[in-house]
Amino acid sequence: MQQVFITGATSGIGRQLALDYCKQGWIVWACGRNQAALSELKQQAGEHLHPLCFDINLAAEIEHAARKITALDLLILNAGTCEYIDDAKHFDGALFERVMQTNVISLGYCLQHLLPLLKRGGKLALMGSSASYVALPRAEAYGASKAAVSYLARTLAIDLKPSGIAVSLINPGFVNTPLTAKNDFPMPMSVDVTQASHAIISGLAKDRFDVHFPKKFTLILKTLAMLPEFMWQGLAARIRK
Ligand SMILES: NC(=O)c1ccc[n+]([C@@H]2O[C@H](COP(=O)([O-])OP(=O)(O)OC[C@H]3O[C@@H](n4cnc5c(N)ncnc54)[C@H](OP(=O)(O)O)[C@@H]3O)[C@@H](O)[C@H]2O)c1
Repeated sequence: MQQVFITGATSGIGRQLALDYCKQGWIVWACGRNQAALSELKQQAGEHLHPLCFDINLAAEIEHAARKITALDLLILNAGTCEYIDDAKHFDGALFERVMQTNVISLGYCLQHLLPLLKRGGKLALMGSSASYVALPRAEAYGASKAAVSYLARTLAIDLKPSGIAVSLINPGFVNTPLTAKNDFPMPMSVDVTQASHAIISGLAKDRFDVHFPKKFTLILKTLAMLPEFMWQGLAARIRK
């Protein structure tokens, strides 16, 4: 049986991925801090799901969790957070640190302790965001963190190739989850978690590096990203208003 390790499996996209991989007969190591949500997930998913309760911001907890596993076919580093900078002039450094810590710094320790468990021929998937394609208003922390994830995935794809490990970067558009339920702006072409999970599982099975969806939305953003920066900034200023 193939084994997948998923961070952020207590909620949203990661939870749906955990359920869907279980249905496909995988052994799933499902992670998060919320013990009650993990127990509920275990009840729903059954014997193939193994809950691991830990905080990705605590390196010792990641190391402890990794000791329970012998080998992995797939590692999905999905856990993340989103907070917006409402007033860039009075920049909130603590907010910036929180987002960078969870979305970027934690990945270093996850990679340190979990990559050695990936078999040759295995796959690493990092959760980015289509928000990193262009500079979006209020996304100084979230967008910058996902841009860092994008660079990390692209460089890991080069450096892990000789070890027989393929790397994918997942770039969703808007997905309806508890994370986006807090958004106070329209979310064009948003999809639900089942659509997101389907797009991710099928993209990873096809060995795609860039797993992006929904295509109509992400292709528009990719096109906008080709504009000269001054044109995009003009457009974004209008969006901000
Ligand atoms: N929803 C979207 O539109 C969208 C779009 C692009 C990218 N993404 C990315 O997709 C990923 C999942 O997002 P989602 O929308 O599914 O959000 P969500 O429903 O809020 O789920 C976030 C998950 O991350 C886990 N997590 C957060 N901080 C953690 C920590 N310190 N330690 C361990 N686990 C932690 C949470 O688990 P606990 O609370 O149990 O710890 C939860 O399971 C994120 O990386 C997000 O940036 C989402």
